[in-house]
Amino acid sequence: MKLWGGRFEKDTDALVEDFHSSIAFDRRLYKQDIAGSIAHAAMLGRVGIISPAEAAQIVAGLESVRADIEAGQAALETGTEDIHMNVEKLLTERIGAVGKKLHTGRSRNDQVALDLRLFLREETDKTRALLASLIHGLLELAETHAETWAPGYTHLQKAQPITLGHHFMAYAAMFLRDRGRLGDARRRLNYSPLGSGALAGTTFPLRREEAARELGFAGVTPNSLDGVSDRDFALEFLSAAAIIMMHLSRLAEEIILWSSGEFGFITLDDAYATGSSIMPQKKNPDVAELVRGKTGRVYGDLVALLTVMKGLPLAYNKDLQEDKESVFDAVDTVQKCLLIMKPLLETMTVHRERLAAEAKKGFMNATDLADYLAKKHVPFREAHAVAGRLVLLCGRKGCALEDLSLAEFQAASPVIEADVYEALSLEAGVRARDLPGGPAPAAVRAAVRAARDELRSEAEAATENGARIAADSEDMV
Ligand code: ARG
Repeated sequence: MKLWGGRFEKDTDALVEDFHSSIAFDRRLYKQDIAGSIAHAAMLGRVGIISPAEAAQIVAGLESVRADIEAGQAALETGTEDIHMNVEKLLTERIGAVGKKLHTGRSRNDQVALDLRLFLREETDKTRALLASLIHGLLELAETHAETWAPGYTHLQKAQPITLGHHFMAYAAMFLRDRGRLGDARRRLNYSPLGSGALAGTTFPLRREEAARELGFAGVTPNSLDGVSDRDFALEFLSAAAIIMMHLSRLAEEIILWSSGEFGFITLDDAYATGSSIMPQKKNPDVAELVRGKTGRVYGDLVALLTVMKGLPLAYNKDLQEDKESVFDAVDTVQKCLLIMKPLLETMTVHRERLAAEAKKGFMNATDLADYLAKKHVPFREAHAVAGRLVLLCGRKGCALEDLSLAEFQAASPVIEADVYEALSLEAGVRARDLPGGPAPAAVRAAVRAARDELRSEAEAATENGARIAADSEDMV
């Protein structure tokens, strides 16, 4: 009989059985489900809602169910609907009638909300760790290439020269924000819905705060209707994951472009590229393409859950069961992509000479020429026009600005002197851009240091925080 079968006279139709069962995917929550049940049972025992001996039996039983699931020795059944009822059934089979007391003062509605929060808290931490590792990789690359001259683009047209290190630091900045976003979301997520019951709390004098603290939460959710039906925390994770994927996809796109023969800025390591089944010469950037392609899945996961939530009346509705697959898919996808991107970048070969050669082409020092004139008190708009005319002249002659003679320069503007050649040099132009956030080698190195400090001080704060929580929970015992 079903755990809820009391008021039913007929069996569930076989199609319905399969249709509404979620065990095929929510089995992934077994650890969180059992942790939540242990905290709940222990609290029931402390309050005296069940006896301490019964609580101890339930806790021991749950631990052995967990061990069996981990060893692949527990049969999780479709007919038993979901992970919550499967665990309860296994428990009762193991310890007998006392197992039936576990669900006192609880509903699957607050139970599943709790499980998903516990799951996402852990995965948020893992994702943040993967981000930190990718950022460290980018910082190393930025340091290595702090003086690697490279073309900078707007509209994918050569614009102004930069350093490759500066380009890498742009991505480090994006991923640092992503870590921050996940950290913010984690703070809002970290409240326990346990004790919300089905929708209206419970008549049992549960100690919600106590169970919450045992599970490492900062507190309890403030409203029982909201507690069972809120999935903002999942949407926030999915939004942050979608933004991470967007950043990864932009980086992947550049890797794809740079590794093409037309750009030739990098060569991917053989271990991170793939071949063609027909064209023997091919070496394709499939990994980067897949990262770019998988971005679509994660956007889909976000939109799927937003759409599930839209229009749901309070409080729990079975639609909410559809939250899990989107969350699982996004977690797996974003983590795999973060993991693979780091070695892909670290193992690629950077062609410095080619980058520097390209950085010298395309009149990218035309702004420097205009700036040179403006520094000699020519109004910038006029300086821009003079530089533009000289670009036109060079275009006709088929040479670069620095190839013009001093006489040609002076014909365009009498204020130009021999020092113009220094102002037009690639290296001087980039080195002079040393404002905070700029591409000059010194500015890149400063940005690397600042990013390392940010990661370090956060890691220290997290350790202190962890130590405090551990000390607090010792006080409680
Ligand atoms: N498997 C369900 C879910 O994932 C658990 C909650 C079921 N609650 C209910 N009232 N049917 O949402």
